[in-house]
Amino acid sequence: METVGVIGAGQMGAGIAQVAAQSGFRVLLSDRDVALAEKGKAGIAKRLGSAVEKGKVTAAEAEAALARIETVDHYGAFGDAFIVIEAATEREEIKRTIFAEVGARMGPNAILATNTSSIPITRLAQAAPDAGRFMGVHFFNPVPVMKPIELIRGLATSDETVARVEAFAKALGKEVVHANDAPGFIVNRVLMPMLNEAIFALGEGVANVRDIDAAVSLGLNHPMGPLTLADFIGLDTCLEITKVLFTGTGDPKFRPAPLLVKYVEAGWLGRKTKRGFYDYSGAEPVPTR
Ligand code: CAA
Repeated sequence: METVGVIGAGQMGAGIAQVAAQSGFRVLLSDRDVALAEKGKAGIAKRLGSAVEKGKVTAAEAEAALARIETVDHYGAFGDAFIVIEAATEREEIKRTIFAEVGARMGPNAILATNTSSIPITRLAQAAPDAGRFMGVHFFNPVPVMKPIELIRGLATSDETVARVEAFAKALGKEVVHANDAPGFIVNRVLMPMLNEAIFALGEGVANVRDIDAAVSLGLNHPMGPLTLADFIGLDTCLEITKVLFTGTGDPKFRPAPLLVKYVEAGWLGRKTKRGFYDYSGAEPVPTR
């Protein structure tokens, strides 16, 4: 059984760990401490439990998948992994520190991949043990549900690394798309301007939260309205990525909406803080404007 290392047991890391385990890989799951990794694993157990209830997987399959996930409190065990996927906080200095620590323990042919949604891969590769065996693997939230993986190669990424990661992504049952190392890659380059524009429209009083979301989700047949989706992703993440598009391209069309900046400054970050464009403190989300 091949081993996959996952760093970060939050929404993305836990989702990646779940999909890898369900695809038959042994997974080593780590976070800042083992309690956080355990919390991530408990969330996976809960989601697998509801998949069993819905008859999507059998109880035996869920149990076997969970048994393939091992929480670890240090990177020592990562020497066994053929690929290590970093899905930690979207802060460059944190990722760089992780790469130095885990890089020293990885096997000589192992690949280090990052799930960054916006930091340039070529720049991050400078902190990796070998830029040839480093690349971006961008998953989408919720990972078990969303089909694509964007593969992003840095300037020095080898063809062999791309081929091995592509085979791995396919083994997870995902649809591979290739993107160049440009700000926002493909999906966020297209998505963030839409979310940002919805926030401009809200700020300018074009319509209220409910009507913007209803108009776009029903009018364009999107599963979620843009303000619901921004809250789901996290407004801090949306702002970070929008800033990367703005500074990375120098194009004023990507300037962040002032209302987005204000919400982030207020600590209203969406679902995770129970307050964004909706209030999530009750049973149902309530629009706030
Ligand atoms: N983890 C695992 N599975 C989940 C889940 C989660 N967090 N949330 C929902 N699901 C599953 C449910 O179990 C359900 O599965 P089945 O069909 O097998 O029963 C399925 O998804 C549908 O869920 P629900 O019926 O509860 O709810 P829904 O129909 O409203 O769908 C949704 C929920 C899948 C999240 C849907 O609203 C959706 O697709 N929204 C858009 C999500 C999106 O755009 N994601 C990309 C964000 S951008 C990004 O991730 C990149 C970045 O860098 C920012």
